[in-house]
Amino acid sequence: MSLKLAVGGKGGVGKTTITSLIARSIAALNKETKVIAIDADPVANLAAGLGIDESKPITPVSELSDLIAERTGAKPGTMGGFFTLNPKVDDIPDRFSIEKDGVKLLVMGTVQQGGSGCICPESTILKALMTHLVLGRNEVVVMDMEAGIEHLGRATSGSVDALIVVVNPGKRSRVAADKIRKLGTDIGIKNIVVLGNRIKSDDDKKLIKESMPGYEILGFIPEMDEIAASDRDGTRPFDDITKIPEELLAVTRKLIALDA
Ligand SMILES: Nc1ncnc2c1ncn2[C@@H]1O[C@H](COP(=O)(O)OP(=O)(O)O)[C@@H](O)[C@H]1O
Ligand SMILES: [Mg+2]
Repeated sequence: MSLKLAVGGKGGVGKTTITSLIARSIAALNKETKVIAIDADPVANLAAGLGIDESKPITPVSELSDLIAERTGAKPGTMGGFFTLNPKVDDIPDRFSIEKDGVKLLVMGTVQQGGSGCICPESTILKALMTHLVLGRNEVVVMDMEAGIEHLGRATSGSVDALIVVVNPGKRSRVAADKIRKLGTDIGIKNIVVLGNRIKSDDDKKLIKESMPGYEILGFIPEMDEIAASDRDGTRPFDDITKIPEELLAVTRKLIALDA
């Protein structure tokens, strides 16, 4: 399997929750498949949802200064000068990820943007790594993206099987979803779908359907006590991932079916 999925949406809608549940359930349904979950949101905390121990903090790739210097030939934090724009990155996912139950977590980290056109060593590494993850690996990659989906470039977006825009019921979702759709379309992502999350009633579903004409709806995920409780306890929801609700399983199956 070589499914590539990006999960986007406004802050707080459930991107990180959904990313971890999808990554875990794909891994559970396909034991022979490798799944990489990418933490590409500066405020994301995918580790908790994946059940990965957070007591030893994971160094984000953007902070691997020595490695970045070695691979690009430039000192991180510098701008301009000469450094390679296609550094070796193919060993990074295995070396710097942490695995649990068939899902590897890779934390990208953030790059201090010096204006819009920053070509610093850190962003060069992240771009190259993102390209490698999407184009160069025969694995399932699920990316928890910040709203800007900035690490995805034009070169890679054509190979993204779906950009999943997570929305909550409410009129404001539309504006956020439209913005992300525009970003996704601009960089060439063809399949952009909406996933309703925190659904409490049929009215919530209706509201999302009616307020988002022209969007394919991937599914509706209910508001779940299990998620709220695990958030409180700092544990992962659905520790036995085979016991996830039917709605979530249906979404996972639809996504698996996108694998060409
Ligand atoms: N389906 C759901 N049912 C109950 N709580 C949810 C659900 N989805 C998300 N949450 C809660 O909403 C909050 C935000 O979720 P999170 O995944 O961190 O959002 P994001 O990554 O988009 O900022 C968290 O407290 C999470 O536990
Ligand atoms: Mg998040």
